[in-house]
Amino acid sequence: MCGIFGYIGTKDPLPICLFGLKQLEYRGYDSSGIAGLYGKEIVSCKEAGKISGLEKKLALKPLALDLAIGHTRWATHGKPTHLNAHPHFDRASSIALVHNGIIENYDLLREELKRDGTHFASETDSEVIVHLIAKYYQGSVLGALQRTLPQLRGSFALALIHRDHPGQIFATSRECPLCVGFDDARTEAIVSSDPNAFLATTPNVVFLRNNEIVKVEKNQTSFFNYSLVPLVKKSERIDSEFKALSKEGYEHFMLKEIHEQPATVQKALLGRIDQAQIHLDLKLSEEKLKQLRHIWLLGCGTSAHAGWLGTLLFEDLVRIPSSMEIASEARYRNPILTPDTLVVAISQSGETADTLAAMREAKRRGSSILGICNIKNSAISREADSTLYLNAGPEVSVCSTKAFTSQISTIALFALYLAKLKGMSDAQLHYYLDELEKVPGQIQQVLSRASELQAIAKKYAAYEDFFFLGRRYMLPTAMEAALKLKEISYVNANGYPAGELKHGAIALINERFPVIALCSNIQTHEKIASNLMEVKARGAPVLAFAPQGMEAVASIADDIFWLPPAIDPFAPFASTIAGQLFAYYIALERGCEIDQPRNLAKSVTVE
Ligand code: F6R
Repeated sequence: MCGIFGYIGTKDPLPICLFGLKQLEYRGYDSSGIAGLYGKEIVSCKEAGKISGLEKKLALKPLALDLAIGHTRWATHGKPTHLNAHPHFDRASSIALVHNGIIENYDLLREELKRDGTHFASETDSEVIVHLIAKYYQGSVLGALQRTLPQLRGSFALALIHRDHPGQIFATSRECPLCVGFDDARTEAIVSSDPNAFLATTPNVVFLRNNEIVKVEKNQTSFFNYSLVPLVKKSERIDSEFKALSKEGYEHFMLKEIHEQPATVQKALLGRIDQAQIHLDLKLSEEKLKQLRHIWLLGCGTSAHAGWLGTLLFEDLVRIPSSMEIASEARYRNPILTPDTLVVAISQSGETADTLAAMREAKRRGSSILGICNIKNSAISREADSTLYLNAGPEVSVCSTKAFTSQISTIALFALYLAKLKGMSDAQLHYYLDELEKVPGQIQQVLSRASELQAIAKKYAAYEDFFFLGRRYMLPTAMEAALKLKEISYVNANGYPAGELKHGAIALINERFPVIALCSNIQTHEKIASNLMEVKARGAPVLAFAPQGMEAVASIADDIFWLPPAIDPFAPFASTIAGQLFAYYIALERGCEIDQPRNLAKSVTVE
């Protein structure tokens, strides 16, 4: 986690560094800081909390800088305090360093350094790195890195400056994203955790691979391996859309992104359906896809919920066995992957460390990888054999909304493409495509009645515990709705299989424990109605999200929000929008910080 940014060039590094950090704030917002060289002095400023705090502090007392490195933190080791904010410095303040990742053996290294008399100013694992570099420094930063880096266990990206080396930024990475950008004339260069933080003037990018070091100067960028052998690395050109991110009149990015979904689902389908056939620009041969016998989906959080829906879609539409594994578990399993297994790595950011690691392990075992990502040039999209992009545009709110519905649209499209390859009739394909193309309209219908959900949310906003129940397609949908609520409202919300409640969890039910029932899976609607009777009998307030006309549920629920009808495989869309709005309005009612909830970050690049 954490975002690293550095700038060297012809412009004032301070505003550029602040701009870059703001682009990276999705990676963490516990604290931020900037350090730079001015002549042969290291100057710095850091602040606990969001980048806006740092910005205010710098507005009062700006730093004059020749070059700068900056950091936005998601706390792992040590509280989100000023002292633990990056950059970190050696004892003589000759080095400033920013770090993303986790140094797993930091405690051993810390004890060793303490025995040598090193004093630590912070509780972070990162600080050991700067002291080790200082310990080994004998006039060459590269030489000090060469001795330090092999001692570090874990994953990291780091950038540092040294007061004896004006005009130079050093950076390196292992299992954490880091890239260098520069302009065509080579007058300025950027080091960043994500190329989406580059300037419009720096469209050339080089991604660091594991255990590579870069020395960045104004006119030159030099790459080395750990033995300090120079490396020749090719740059790529990125076509970033440098659009200022705006809430466009909405109170929060989350609300704006919820309302974008009719358009973003359409974008996921756009150009991929023509004359009732699906065209996917895949780099996996049709022959290979026809022979698939198993699909293994990987993801975390919201992307895992999309993956669970994917298993149902593959089973129902393609009739192919598929399974979903949470990536943080998958990476330590011993999965049975054969050449006819396709691994589908789902990730909005394309940078999630667990998903990336699980995907790499599957690749090592010989599986083909399909990435489903939103962010172009992300690590997963670069390393997958083929990637289907969501084309949803930047998702700023930490709480994911539009990415989820774009993920399920894209997976549904891929499932239908595969089904056709495996013999689905044209008539069946047309039927499903027609139903899929109705989804943006269904989403719009829910959005147009957002005020009804706001009124319902007001009624439920004071409760501290919720169950979200669902069956079949409504189970991952219920889990996703529960995740939204806990993420931004900080209440206890569990997505649970409706039929499983009676096997234990029903013991929790009382009149202070509302049940939100997602009833849109038609195949099981009578079953969920019975489950609602069971919780109603025990005093739970019941709110149902149900398709129009489902009277069996209407007579049980205390409150009901009617949804447009949809076939079971595509019913998750409308229910999801209702769940997102419900969570949003509860958070609003409770006065929570919606776009940047506490303890979270948009991109989780640590294990
Ligand atoms: C929830 C949320 C997270 C992410 C998860 C995976 O609203 O945003 O649960 O879905 O951290 O992130 P990606 O999709 O970027 O791999």
